[in-house]
Amino acid sequence: MPESPIRKLVPYAEQAYKDGKTVYHLNIGQPDIKTPEVALDAVKVHSLDILAYTRSEGSEAYRKKIAEYYHKNNIQVEHDDIIVTTGGSEALLFAFGSIMDSDDEIIIPEPFYANYNGFSTASDIKVVPVISKIEDNFALPAIEEFEKLITPKTKAILICNPGNPTGYLYSKEEIKKLAQIVKKHDLFLIADEVYREFVYDGNEFYSIMQEESIAENAIMIDSVSKRYSMCGARIGYLVSKNKSFIKTALKFAQARLSPPTLAQIASEAALSTPQSYFDGVINDYVSRRNTLISELEKIDGVKVAKPKGAFYCIAELPVKSADNFAKWLLEKFDIDKETVMVAPAAGFYSTPGVGLNQIRIAYVLNENSLIKAVNILKEALKVYKD
Ligand SMILES: Cc1ncc(COP(=O)(O)O)c(C=O)c1O
Repeated sequence: MPESPIRKLVPYAEQAYKDGKTVYHLNIGQPDIKTPEVALDAVKVHSLDILAYTRSEGSEAYRKKIAEYYHKNNIQVEHDDIIVTTGGSEALLFAFGSIMDSDDEIIIPEPFYANYNGFSTASDIKVVPVISKIEDNFALPAIEEFEKLITPKTKAILICNPGNPTGYLYSKEEIKKLAQIVKKHDLFLIADEVYREFVYDGNEFYSIMQEESIAENAIMIDSVSKRYSMCGARIGYLVSKNKSFIKTALKFAQARLSPPTLAQIASEAALSTPQSYFDGVINDYVSRRNTLISELEKIDGVKVAKPKGAFYCIAELPVKSADNFAKWLLEKFDIDKETVMVAPAAGFYSTPGVGLNQIRIAYVLNENSLIKAVNILKEALKVYKD
């Protein structure tokens, strides 16, 4: 199993705390946003006598409410098209296990969410990357690039929309191009849409589930982790209109018995979160993004792709190895006992040697902290020697 590039520097950060330093965490997508009160209250006042298993596919009442949420988002799925999972992470594992055998291939535009590497290794399947570029803001690579990579072992294309780590939002046209290619080659299209709500600048989100022509090919991964700032609830969903796929995925769900019961109660209540909560959260992320990007652009030699969604961006630094730089920041550099932790981006690629000078930044801190953290990066780059 590959190490997580997001978590592998944790021991260095721990040493920094022991040395009395404050560490600004730009490395991990753990939002500082408060969980909606309706969700927390539901856990406090529930009337359960026994914390029992639920059905393997998740409680029916909860899945019916999830379907209503999708209807409001122009996605026409019903409760029996949904399996509740232990986070989007488990939904990804079930999807891979259900549609691929050992040595099968999945095409993924890179850079991609690093754990796709881990889940592929665990499922004994091969990731075939297609490179998207910082110069193009990480737009969908030309469809011919995908087509060149399709072999008899290719079973699926996986996208993350809006993207972690790129912040790129695929347009309706890009989704339609992907729909055509999966239809033509009879592949699955898996879309990790866990950041669906985080879309900025008046752009509209277009789900693969809105493409009716690929109803049998489309598999959506979803999660409550970021939407309601409920990462610790460990609730996600697998969604597809393909009955045979859902039937297979349910066998994986049965093998692990049940998704967490109390967290389903909290997540069901979270569906009643008022729109004002999301408006506030989106405003916060937009101003954080704007601050982060404008501060990064002031640093000599730094290149950054402007994100249209999610809460991440990739920045290219004037260093040879972002890995060494990230360790050095934690071990050797501070300003008044404050330093910063970033995620080296190489782990978000599966092509060796690509992205070595890039980092991923999660803008999950308040603006003052972001300004301080970017200033630390700026001063560090002035004195750092590769
Ligand atoms: C793109 C993407 N997919 C899936 C996940 C998994 O999230 P969870 O298992 O908390 O739902 C994450 C978490 O950061 C993510 O960024």
